[in-house]
Amino acid sequence: MSNILVTGGAGYIGSHVVKALGEEGYRVLTYDNLSTGNRWAVLHGDLVEGDLADRDKLAATVRNFSPDAVLHFAAGIEVAESVANPLKYYENNTVNALGLLQTLRREGVGRFIFSSTAAVYGIPERIPVDETAPLLPINPYGASKMMTERILADLAVADPEFRYVALRYFNVAGADPEGRIGQAYKNPTHLITRALKTALGQYEKLQVFGTDYETPDGTCIRDYIHVVDLASAHVAALDYLLEGGGSEVFNCGYGHGYSVQEVIDMVRRVTGRDFPVEQAPRRAGDPPALTAESMRIRNGLGWTPRYDHLEYIIETAWNWELKLHSGQVGRQA
Ligand code: UFG
Repeated sequence: MSNILVTGGAGYIGSHVVKALGEEGYRVLTYDNLSTGNRWAVLHGDLVEGDLADRDKLAATVRNFSPDAVLHFAAGIEVAESVANPLKYYENNTVNALGLLQTLRREGVGRFIFSSTAAVYGIPERIPVDETAPLLPINPYGASKMMTERILADLAVADPEFRYVALRYFNVAGADPEGRIGQAYKNPTHLITRALKTALGQYEKLQVFGTDYETPDGTCIRDYIHVVDLASAHVAALDYLLEGGGSEVFNCGYGHGYSVQEVIDMVRRVTGRDFPVEQAPRRAGDPPALTAESMRIRNGLGWTPRYDHLEYIIETAWNWELKLHSGQVGRQA
């Protein structure tokens, strides 16, 4: 049984991966500062409450736990916030990742899985975009992740003992089908979450950021991937590295997308509720359409997604929102 350290394991995606790792029999330890994560979300292993910037605590945690691999989720994730506050993103997503890598090298940990993003591509020339496309991010969020990818690539060349997988996430959504965990940000910005909370009456209206894009209905297109399929991609990447696989970069998406309008229509259908929708100006840093070429991860890791259905993604997210709304979440923690 391997020891796996998960930074950001109390967050939305990290907690689904911790659950999947626990179910696979891995020994898991979460390191999280709980800035956006929650203690109740960590369903397996212990939680060390710590910040990546606290290098002493981080080093002591790594030394005590002696991980065989590290999965690094802890980071900022909002495009708009990164445009407004770029230094926060370069610090959290680049500087703290560098510090973590320095610590891991000192402690002799040489297997690493990195949460990267489709935002590294910027506005790709062709979609679905594949992993060989140039990295031309159009916002600080994407740039901060791209820089860490570059550090990883250089490190892997310099040090043959170090191997990593970078997973470029497209639009992650949905929740644990058992309803134990899901997205629980204080100020959610993601489309599906905003739409569901609007359906619940928590927001007055949903704004559609841009209706004049060069897409069939004028709204942006994204490749929505169920968080449980993304979790299984991490387990596959980890098994691959532990079995001796070399450093790799994989897109994590299904290969097709839905427009903002199509998502809104599906949210109305799944929830059976109507809600006010308002046309609004484009949001800074948004590419018009972004979908993943996913053959590399399907072939390279044998990854087979199970939940490639927008309706199911929204259903699981809706059940989770209902639970949050009724105040049932976190009580047992
Ligand atoms: N949108 C709205 N109204 C809202 C929220 C979003 O119209 O209230 C639109 C956005 O403008 C965009 C689409 O819905 O066109 C999706 O926006 P999200 O905020 O849900 O997600 P993003 O595409 O901005 O970003 C997400 C992740 C990033 C990742 C990116 C890759 O947050 O980490 O997908 O596609 F890099």
